[in-house]
Amino acid sequence: MFVSLEGLLADPAPVLALAPMKAVTDLAFWRLFLRYGGADLYTTEYVRVHVTSRLGPEILQTVRENPTGRPVIVQLLGNDPQALVRIAKELAGLAVAAIELNLGCPAPIVHRKFSGGGLLRDHNRVDKLVGTLRDAIVGKFSVKTRLGFTNPREFDDLLAIYAKHHLDLLVVHGRTVAEQYQPGVHYDAIAQAVAAVSCPVLANGGIDTAPQAQQVLRQTGARGLMIGRAAIRNPWIFGQIRKQLRGEIPTYPSGREVLAYVLALYEASGPPDAREELQVQKLKRCLSYLGVGIDPKREFLRQVLRVTTRQELEAVCLRFMDHERPMPLAPFSDAVSTD
Ligand SMILES: Cc1cc2nc3c(=O)[nH]c(=O)nc-3n(C[C@H](O)[C@H](O)[C@H](O)COP(=O)(O)O)c2cc1C
Repeated sequence: MFVSLEGLLADPAPVLALAPMKAVTDLAFWRLFLRYGGADLYTTEYVRVHVTSRLGPEILQTVRENPTGRPVIVQLLGNDPQALVRIAKELAGLAVAAIELNLGCPAPIVHRKFSGGGLLRDHNRVDKLVGTLRDAIVGKFSVKTRLGFTNPREFDDLLAIYAKHHLDLLVVHGRTVAEQYQPGVHYDAIAQAVAAVSCPVLANGGIDTAPQAQQVLRQTGARGLMIGRAAIRNPWIFGQIRKQLRGEIPTYPSGREVLAYVLALYEASGPPDAREELQVQKLKRCLSYLGVGIDPKREFLRQVLRVTTRQELEAVCLRFMDHERPMPLAPFSDAVSTD
């Protein structure tokens, strides 16, 4: 049964959303993720929009096939108002739950061109762009934002802009662009967003475990959570959070279940005829998130970094996961060495 965004938001349960992650959360990943219970809401990896861009076959396939049974938000990255409006209008004919503007991407290649998080350097420009899109989009419109470019206090001003334009959903990654992914997320600022805007707010950033998810919901009052890297590391996490919220004790997968996930992730990381070295590269990127939850000495990560073939990769995984012990898959907080 397909659940609409309205249906999802009408249910009082916290919304658990899978974060968009470029080059990871594609259609194949969504399909795999479903096997572990899936999310309530999905956002596509960003679609880069410029003056001459067109909607590519991947995004069209993702929206048309949507295997999740859940609402799908299409995220746009760009700074040209006319181009963004043109693409938003093209999307309006498809089964899209909302169109989202990316105001958070911290990659220098993006922010130096005043796109993604780079736009947060100029609040007038954010105001105009968000206003233009709000006026042009007939359906739902969301924004995924960081707190500011350099200082979390910039968020006061940004929140006034978001409140003024009556968004349908606001996703807040509680860091500035300058903070990249460094430890420490400003959950207090997410609570501030919940108080400042009338639309639902999803809290994002650094949520690694079910108890922590519950704590962030309490602390922020957010309508839900968006989870990224921890969902790659631990696709069981949404099931664990749902259990935690029901007052049950979350259960952990065994080593062999994690091993089966990694092998399935390999299969999902490219078409059957993909070149082995490309698939190995892609899996190594995913394993860089998984590895911090595998062993406290980070020996798994060191060994994974050296592999170049599927056989070597599987051998390393077997060494660390071929057992029945439960694996919480939470990061061993900076425990590089226990010697
Ligand atoms: C590999 C990778 C790719 C990402 N791609 C996107 C993207 O396409 N759009 C976006 O809004 N955020 C993107 N993000 C940011 C995540 O959506 C999320 O905001 C961030 O990772 C913080 O959440 P987490 O701590 O739960 O991972 C990406 C993050 C990673 C690690």
